Amino acid sequence: MEKIRRTKVVDLLKREDFGAMVNVKGWVRTRRGSKQVNFIALNDGSTINNVQIVVDLANFSEELLKDITTGACLSVNGVLTESVGSGQKAEIQASEIEVLGACDNTYPLQKKGHSMEFLREIAHLRPRTNTFGAVYRIRHNMAIAIHQFFHEKGFFYFHTPIITASDCEGAGQMFQVTTKNLYDLKKDENGSIIYDDDFFGKQASLTVSGQLEGELAATALGAIYTFGPTFRAENSNTPRHLAEFWMVEPEVAFADLTDLMELEEEFIKHCVKWALDNCRDDLEFLNKMVDKGLIERLQKVVDTEFVRLPYTEGIKILEEAVAKGHKFEFPVYWGCDLASEHERYLVEEHFQKPVIMTDYPKEIKAFYMKQNADGKTVQGTDVLFPQIGEIIGGSVREENYDKLMARIQELHIPMKDMWWYLDTRKYGTCPHAGFGLGFERLLLFVTGMANIRDVIPFPRTPRNAEF
Ligand code: 4AD
Ligand code: MG
Repeated sequence: MEKIRRTKVVDLLKREDFGAMVNVKGWVRTRRGSKQVNFIALNDGSTINNVQIVVDLANFSEELLKDITTGACLSVNGVLTESVGSGQKAEIQASEIEVLGACDNTYPLQKKGHSMEFLREIAHLRPRTNTFGAVYRIRHNMAIAIHQFFHEKGFFYFHTPIITASDCEGAGQMFQVTTKNLYDLKKDENGSIIYDDDFFGKQASLTVSGQLEGELAATALGAIYTFGPTFRAENSNTPRHLAEFWMVEPEVAFADLTDLMELEEEFIKHCVKWALDNCRDDLEFLNKMVDKGLIERLQKVVDTEFVRLPYTEGIKILEEAVAKGHKFEFPVYWGCDLASEHERYLVEEHFQKPVIMTDYPKEIKAFYMKQNADGKTVQGTDVLFPQIGEIIGGSVREENYDKLMARIQELHIPMKDMWWYLDTRKYGTCPHAGFGLGFERLLLFVTGMANIRDVIPFPRTPRNAEF
């Protein structure tokens, strides 16, 4: 076969130099046609769009043609031609075809219209479907949007450790990391495991959040963000929880609650706008096939101001809804941790806008949040989104050493692993704030997908670590 430099389909479909000889490589999505002419829809992942290859059967051997099946990988040389029927401007009149990889009829993606559940079972092949191709291209774009946003604002990308000895959220949902022989654990007289001879010489786990180390960095570099995998051994089998998920965590010195909320709102709007500006073909596909209201909802978030709502007022609204006969599965009262049905009521029905809820009861929030003068609430913020519920959790941090210590003792948080964190409050402490955005929750919103397992390539959930 003549060697011609490969053109990606995304670039090829924009070309207008009809008559040029081109090469494309990709996977067969469909093949149809008559006894004389066949049309192959070829996709190479660079775009949701396929390029149509027109094959005059008389020019090719039976031997070759029988291997051009759904899923097969081809290299095609041919003439770039103006297209009338393919839905695209350009198509290729094939002159040479090489089958790089044949694909027999055991290929599970023969037909269209598989269920999401089935596709999860073949997560190694699902990137080849239109839907997952779109989702993963958008996922990439959102990662770029995040780095771009913070870089432009002068935040430094700071890498916090994956393996850690501290439980940032204090919720005891950590996966342990050990090289100990689990069949032969050394224990002390109380039956507690002795970690002295373990790899790190102490109990170590996978991080649930980079925040604590992020705070160290913010109190030196001014403004930083982390973006990496985090792990939570929470046994929640919901469409919004993963055991391994990616989190973006900015942390800003000298920021107060107002600054924090502004940053949260500006950040999400930037990401959503980025998708609208840069992922148009994929969004239009998802809008058509997955969620008819998607693009409208994205545009609305970019255009509307988020509501700022203290928790206490939010509870009042929910109690009024109950009084008017609205049924919630879980009870509403001051002090309750809002369930996703409550959050969605506020966002989707009451305000019909994203809501930044603030000033939560301290009992339902983490130890590090700045305590308000009322002695009851803390300066925590959750950003609540339509369809999703909580997309961001953040707070102003308690920068006062004594108040922070008091809270740590009240909650019986083990001190010996916290000394370095407390040092920030001892040596030139400063007001600061930050938040964590669940990357896959953002992707749920931006793609319109219904289940968080379908916006990460290889989901980790209770009883599932396949692939
Ligand atoms: O609200 P969370 O637990 O907050 C923190 O971890 C803070 N340390 C963040 C900070 O202030 N730097 O988690 C932050 C976000 C949530 O709002 C949610 O979007 C996401 O992380 N998240 C999850 N996403 C998927 N699966 C899970 N199991 C998640 N748990 C939290
Ligand atoms: Mg939270």
